[in-house]
Amino acid sequence: MARDWIRWHDEYEVPGSSLARRLEVVRGFLRPLLPAPRRVISMCAGDGRDVLPLLPPGSPAVLVEQDPELADRARRAAPDGVTVVTGDAGITDPYAAVAPADVLLACGVFGNITDADVGRTIAALPALLAPGSTVVWTRAGDSPVRDLFVTNGFEELAYCEPHDARFRVGVHRLTRDPSPFVAGLRMFHFVEV
Ligand SMILES: C[S@@+](CC[C@H](N)C(=O)[O-])C[C@H]1O[C@@H](n2cnc3c(N)ncnc32)[C@H](O)[C@@H]1O
Repeated sequence: MARDWIRWHDEYEVPGSSLARRLEVVRGFLRPLLPAPRRVISMCAGDGRDVLPLLPPGSPAVLVEQDPELADRARRAAPDGVTVVTGDAGITDPYAAVAPADVLLACGVFGNITDADVGRTIAALPALLAPGSTVVWTRAGDSPVRDLFVTNGFEELAYCEPHDARFRVGVHRLTRDPSPFVAGLRMFHFVEV
């Protein structure tokens, strides 16, 4: 049975919950990256609460979320300049309108796709990004994600690893030259668990 991602978001409303704490860490990392309008991508954006309140007006952003109700919530909360796509975040096409992006969010993605797709996705990110751009990502527990960023031309700017929670939040900056955008490239399939 498909996971109820609307209900998953309810934990955000529980003060002190892992998700509420993770949200504060993600926003804390994002805030200094958005001092003025930047091109922003959010993959599997949910209701967009991590990035939407931080976007300066006129930010060209694309949020991709498959669940229509969550996508609608994001759309209602979005300032001018934001496009919320109800669709598949695992393929490059919806990002064509905003790539190359300055900031990319991959929050709640890497724990829901296979390891092979994690590798494929991180390897594909330089084709969605501008030189010197930044990725903010999350993952539960220890994983090879940090190493994969480094081997694909990123440097680590920050990593949050609370001793009393399983969530991890990383921030990586692209240091190699970006790759050309490739339409129709499959990066991942979401695995419902
Ligand atoms: C773990 S939640 C993360 C939501 C948000 N990024 C956050 O951190 O609050 C995963 C989200 O991915 C969405 N999703 C699942 N498969 C997807 C796909 N193929 N393309 C886009 N979104 C997808 C779900 O509906 C859900 O909102």
